[in-house]
Amino acid sequence: MNTKEKILKFLEENRDDFISGEDMAKKLNISRTAIWKGVNSLRDQGFVINSSTNKGYQIDKDCDKISEFGIKHNLSDELKKKDIDVIYYDSIDSTNTEMKRRLYSEKLNNYTVIVADEQTGGRGRRGRDFLSPKGSGIYFSIVLFPEDNFDMSSFDLVTVRAAVAVAKSINEITDKEAKIKWVNDVFVDGKKVCGILSEADSDFENMHIKSIIVGIGINFSTKEENFGELKNKAGSINPKGVLRSELCAKIISNFYDIYYHQSKESVLDYYTKYSNVINQEVEFELNSKKYNGIAESFDEKGNLIVKLDDSSEMTLSSGEISIRGDFYR
Ligand code: BTN
Repeated sequence: MNTKEKILKFLEENRDDFISGEDMAKKLNISRTAIWKGVNSLRDQGFVINSSTNKGYQIDKDCDKISEFGIKHNLSDELKKKDIDVIYYDSIDSTNTEMKRRLYSEKLNNYTVIVADEQTGGRGRRGRDFLSPKGSGIYFSIVLFPEDNFDMSSFDLVTVRAAVAVAKSINEITDKEAKIKWVNDVFVDGKKVCGILSEADSDFENMHIKSIIVGIGINFSTKEENFGELKNKAGSINPKGVLRSELCAKIISNFYDIYYHQSKESVLDYYTKYSNVINQEVEFELNSKKYNGIAESFDEKGNLIVKLDDSSEMTLSSGEISIRGDFYR
């Protein structure tokens, strides 16, 4: 860790207090001039750091610059103990792509997180782009390796678990209510605020999956004009009194808990509780034929069971549905 990183870590861990330059210098074992230079360099990077002659330095409470240390400081005790790797970029093409590049060039630890303040080539499902402007979103990827004797079921419901983690985290620490639109989009106030892209790195020779990258993109405080023609469908959470690093850390922590500790049944209960489609009239298209029905429940794989207008049942495993009367039609 270089001097600037040490100062940032210290300031993030003491966000609630002013710290005098002298105290910081002593605790970090660096000179006061180095502290002064480091603070100025952090300011140049965009951190708003208040200073007062008598009290010292403090990150401004409204400074929402995301950082490795801001995230690490807010992780659950379990993940703090595990000391997971969090790699931060001011700007990157795509955190999923960067994770793949790293998987090919170095040995990563399980549950390594790559997070960026901006993505210049953010990717969505079905080959779509994912809008990822600077300073207002949370874009991150987590890598999962199979445990011991690998079988496919260790990655069961991975995206469902991620969607539940996002909705649960928003509901726990913000003033907004999040809902999951099947399969895995998270909505607030009727607009999509989060998308999830899970990608597998598989070994075709023995059909083993070597790792899964779970990429999560959140519109945190993205302005409406940024969404352009998507503005009727996409929105931001715009929570009060919560920082991006805090929400990001909450999702990383909740996802770990849900992925490693929660039973399938409990995850599907949450998935149903947060769903905005269950009991709704839905429309979908299959092989160019249009269907209408009521979304009834999810099966153990997270597939959606729809009771059709003619009383027969249909199980949908993927694709897009429209909720009748919804803007999304
Ligand atoms: C979707 O809604 O279609 C999925 C969007 C997934 C976006 C996230 S942002 C972090 C990670 N990196 C990417 O390029 N995509 C995912």
